[in-house]
Amino acid sequence: MSIAHGVRKAAVIGAGQMGLGIAFVSAVHAKVPVLLHDKSPAQVKSGLGLMDKLLAKDVSKGKLTSEAAKEARDRVSVVDDLKHFRDADLVIEAVAENLTIKESIFRTLSAELSPKTILATNTSSISITKIAATAIPQGKTASDPEGKESAGRVVGLHFFNPVPVMKLVELIAATQTSQETLERARAYAIACGKEVTYSKDVPGFVANGLLMPFINEAIMMLERGVATRDDIDKTMKLGANHPMGPLQLADFIGLDTCLAIQQTIYHGTGDSKYRPSVLLERMVDAQWYGRKSGKGFYEYSKE
Ligand code: 3HC
Repeated sequence: MSIAHGVRKAAVIGAGQMGLGIAFVSAVHAKVPVLLHDKSPAQVKSGLGLMDKLLAKDVSKGKLTSEAAKEARDRVSVVDDLKHFRDADLVIEAVAENLTIKESIFRTLSAELSPKTILATNTSSISITKIAATAIPQGKTASDPEGKESAGRVVGLHFFNPVPVMKLVELIAATQTSQETLERARAYAIACGKEVTYSKDVPGFVANGLLMPFINEAIMMLERGVATRDDIDKTMKLGANHPMGPLQLADFIGLDTCLAIQQTIYHGTGDSKYRPSVLLERMVDAQWYGRKSGKGFYEYSKE
């Protein structure tokens, strides 16, 4: 018998493109109240603006009635502190791809929230086991029953961008993750309208273990002058039926995010196929982060 997610209220940390998308599918598809937190009020404002736009678009296309859109919007509330997450049954962290930031969040969550609350991370590449090890209440150890229970509610729920459109969630169990956590997280992803695949807790999991060497090789081809930007992208769009070329996709994901993922996988595996290209590093040094900053391999006008 499949287990229910049991989520009466969800919470999302991070109102960037991933966090906002997760809040969107939680409110629209899973139909649960969602608490949204981001340390930047400007990010919250732009995230909610995007949510309003996505809901209005779905109404105009007849995918949602205006009542359903209003109900979904009313399910989302913004909170300014993680302590307001106390009555959430599931928290999904979707902040920058940085272990130190994530560890600090999971330390706070484990101190503030009941051990029954599932703590999920949307990390693209970082070890879920390492993150789970920080979710142990102060004064307890990994082998104490409380420490085990607390780390056992941590799981990887890896959504894809744009979250409302992409049909997949990768589910990753940390070494400590309990079977119940894994099954409830899977049920929640399905309630959000997604299909689920499992990956071991290896750097980059399945998706980025495959995608990042592909993107990086495209950047290195550009660097070596093998072909122009447009021809590299066109080759994969028309020749392999990819919806976006690799350079366009890198801009879409965010060049800073691509670099952070590649560094994590490279350091985690030592495998040279994951070593970021110098061109990618320099573009990130220049703060050319892709679509979100207005410049990457392409130029983007601010909407
Ligand atoms: N948010 C929500 N919906 C969006 C969107 C966004 N940012 N961008 C596009 N859409 C919707 C459109 O509204 C449209 O919806 P409709 O079917 O109801 O009309 C649909 O997506 C198609 O959009 P468009 O017609 O405007 O444009 P395209 O046909 O070019 O599709 C795309 C846009 C869906 C983004 C497509 O180009 C695509 O699939 N690109 C590849 C995306 C991809 O590979 N994502 C995974 C990245 S890897 C990742 O996320 C993992 C991480 O760890 C790095």
